[in-house]
This record gives sequence, C-alpha cells and structure tokens, in this order.
Amino acid sequence: MKIAVLAGDGIGPEIVAEALKVLEVFRGEGVSMELESALVGGVAVDHTGDPLPPETLALCQAADAILFGSIGGPQYDSLPREQRPERGLLRLRKELDLFANLRPAQVFPELAAASTLRADVVSGLDILIVRELTGDIYFGEPRGIRTNAAGEREGFNTMVYSESEIRRVAHWGFQAAQKRQRRLCSVDKMNVLECTQLWRDVVQEIAPQYPEVTLTHMLVDNAAMQLVRNPRQFDVIVTGNIFGDILSDEASMLTGSIGMLPSASLNAQGQGLYEPIHGSAPDIAGQGKANPLAQILSAAMMFRYSLNRADLADRIDHGVRHVLAQGLRTADIAQAGEPVVSTAQMGDAVVAALRAV
Ligand code: IPM
Ligand code: MG
Repeated sequence: MKIAVLAGDGIGPEIVAEALKVLEVFRGEGVSMELESALVGGVAVDHTGDPLPPETLALCQAADAILFGSIGGPQYDSLPREQRPERGLLRLRKELDLFANLRPAQVFPELAAASTLRADVVSGLDILIVRELTGDIYFGEPRGIRTNAAGEREGFNTMVYSESEIRRVAHWGFQAAQKRQRRLCSVDKMNVLECTQLWRDVVQEIAPQYPEVTLTHMLVDNAAMQLVRNPRQFDVIVTGNIFGDILSDEASMLTGSIGMLPSASLNAQGQGLYEPIHGSAPDIAGQGKANPLAQILSAAMMFRYSLNRADLADRIDHGVRHVLAQGLRTADIAQAGEPVVSTAQMGDAVVAALRAV
C-alpha cells in the first residue's frame, strides 16, 4: 500500500502527525505501508512557486491513496490565482479524476449537545453527501474577468455538466444508498438552470437500475432549508460540485464540529484522496489546539475505500468513539467548563484505544 502524505498548511501538519501515529500502530502489527511525503499548497508555493509541484503530482499518481491535511492561509490570498494553495488541491482532484467526493455527516451520540441545533433535531443524524468534484462551475470554460461593451468589468463562469459526468457520480449515490437506508435525494436547481435540468433528467434515467432505492429530487435552496429544519429526513444526498461544497459545510455544523468530519475523493480506479473537510485554520495553527479526529477519521476512510481494509477502518472508528465516550474533548467540541485536551493528547488517546483492541 503506497500512501502519499500531503500535510499542507496551517493545522495540516499537526493533525496529519496524529493520523500518522495511527498508521504506525498498524505498521507495528505488520501491515505493510509505504509512506512518502510531499509539498502541497502554500508551503509548496513558498518552496517552489507552485502549489502542486510536478514531483508531488507524480507521487500522488503513483500512490494508492493520498492522506491530505489542509491548505491555505491569508498570506497567499493576494497571489495570482494559479499560485494560490486552493489551485493545488483543485488541480490534484482534476488530474487524478477524483470525481466522487464522499462527505459523511454523523452525529456522535456523545457530541449531540455540541451542535448549535437542538439535540432532539440532530441526535442520531447520519447523512452521506456525495458531491461531484471535478466538473461544474468550478472547472467550466470560459471563465474570467473581462471588460464588457459598456466599458465595465464583468466576471463570468460557466456551469457545465456532461451526461457521463452526471451518470458516474449518480451511480455512486445510488450504490451508497443501497448499502445504507436506501434513500437518495438528488439536489439541483432545475427551475432556473438548464445544466441542472440535465442533472435531474440523467439521475432520473438511472433510477430504474436501482429499484430498491427511493429517489427524490430537491431544489438546492429548499435542501439548505430542510437540512436545518429536519436533517434526519436525509440518507444519501447526491449533488454537483458547487451545491455540494455549500451543503456539506452546512451539514457539517449539524454535527457540532467541522473538526470531526472526514472526506474521501475517489476516481474510477479506487484511488483516493482523504482529507478533513475543515480548512487550515491559520488562527490556531501551531498551538496544539486543533482537533485531529477529522484527519484520523479520514485515514479510516482511506483504509475502507482505497486500501481494502475495512477491518482497520472499523477499528479506527471504534477508537474515536471510545475516546469521545471517555470524555476527551479538544476545544472545538468541548462544552463550557469541560476540560480540554491538546491535538497530541487526542491523537495519543486514539492510539491507546487502538492498542487496547
Ligand atoms: C472544500 C473546499 C475547497 C472547495 C476549496 C479549498 C477549494 O472548500 O473542499 O470544500 O471549494 O472545494
Ligand atoms: Mg468547501
């Protein structure tokens, strides 16, 4: 198993370090893993001028899986677009064709009170958002800022999906639903946007192949509202790149902390990039305050989806549940007055829990 480790910026390196402790436990038990680190994001810009240097891309292409921390920071915001850290991540997704982005949002029973929504609304919540990740307005051409006929600047982007792009991610949505509660909600804006009319049509065309899955469609504005009104109505949501970006941030807060949520981005070959959905949190970087659990849970997804070791994934998931049950809390998930542990203490506790089983 060849794993590329891209820690990136901000809190990335400190939370990746905790996930690596977990990998070391398995290594100690004889699981063979080849790990290699590379630069990405702002730190890559600092060293090479390129947020995705060719060596990093080559390493990722040759790897079975990529363990990715986080990227970005205010010091890079004024760089030309091609040199911004985010471009490194977007290019990596595109180059490896990582079109299926799985973003689970689960409320751990121990943390139901950490949500800004009432516990009776969110407890037991278990949603999977399947976000398309390599198309849509993120990558559509033409794009840019130009001067129009009136001499005024105008910005423009193109929302575009081909039917094959829609079809392959829709299959992911249906198949994920098959393994869960068998409910799939496809989110679009077909009342206004042709691109998403096609989205709805194509998802509808595939539905007969999955008779056991109940398919519904929802407009994105309504979906945003329903997520806070009655989030438990959802099982699997499948949607395009931009809607998925927005709805997955919203769904994450239902769980109490964005610091808990992992993600997987997969291509057709099963290669995957595994990253927490939170960002690089430059305001707390280097202070040992960051919650490493989303990164550790991302490693669990890596074992499940790219490395074919669901057993190890289950162990990590149980280890995380165990430390939460023990009452360990980083600052982001602590209630007022609860004692707080550091990034490393949280990682060490997960390691101890893993060793115990
Ligand atoms: C995400 C992030 C990225 C995105 C940024 C960092 C480019 O918000 O993974 O959700 O917009 O996809
Ligand atoms: Mg986002």
